[in-house]
Amino acid sequence: MELYTYEELKKFVDHCGRCSLAQGRNRAVMGKGNLHSSVLFIAEGPGRNEDRDGVPFTGRSGEVLDQLLQKVGMRREDIYLTNIVKCHPPGNRDPLPQEQEACMPYLKYETLLLRPKLIVCLGRIAAQRIIRPDYRIMREHGTFICRKNVWLTSVYHPSAILRDESKLPEAEADFRKIKDKLGELE
Ligand code: URA
Ligand code: SF4
Repeated sequence: MELYTYEELKKFVDHCGRCSLAQGRNRAVMGKGNLHSSVLFIAEGPGRNEDRDGVPFTGRSGEVLDQLLQKVGMRREDIYLTNIVKCHPPGNRDPLPQEQEACMPYLKYETLLLRPKLIVCLGRIAAQRIIRPDYRIMREHGTFICRKNVWLTSVYHPSAILRDESKLPEAEADFRKIKDKLGELE
C-alpha cells in the first residue's frame, strides 16, 4: 500500500468530496498530534467548534480530554488524535455508516503513518467501528484486546462525561490504565 505524508493526507481531506458531509462543512478536520506517538486516539467526528477551527477537540470536550490526559501526566502533544469522519455531521448527529465507510481510507493512511502500539476509541461510535460492531461501551470501556500486534481499548467520550460527571472517576481510571499500558509497551 502506498504511503502518504501527513501534509498530503491533510490536503486530500481538506478538499474531499467523498461523502455528503462535504456539503455542510465549514472546514474539514484532519487528525492532529505527534506523528511519533505510539498511541492513536479516535473519536467520532468534529463538532461545531472543530468545524470552525479545523482542528480536533477545540471545544469543551477538548478541555475534558486535556484534563484526563493531564491527570496521568500526558499532554495532547504526546498523542495523535483523529476522528472516524473528518467533517462535522449537521446538528451533531451520529455519522451514518456510509459516511464512516467513505472516510475510512484517511484513517487507514493515518494509521499506516503512525504505526501505533495502542489505539484508544473515544466513545461508542469509534469503538463499534474499530473494535466490534456490537461493542458495549458501558460494559467494556477500559478493557484491552490485542489484534495484529496492536492493543485496542475504549474510554467514554468526553462529551458523555460533560453530560454526566459521575462518569469522570471511571474515565480517570481508564486513562491511568492507558498510561500503564504505554509504559509496558515502550
Ligand atoms: N467530538 C468528537 O468526536 N471529535 C472532535 O474532534 C470533537 C468533539
Ligand atoms: Fe471526505 Fe470524510 Fe469529509 Fe466525507 S467526512 S467529505 S469522506 S473527509
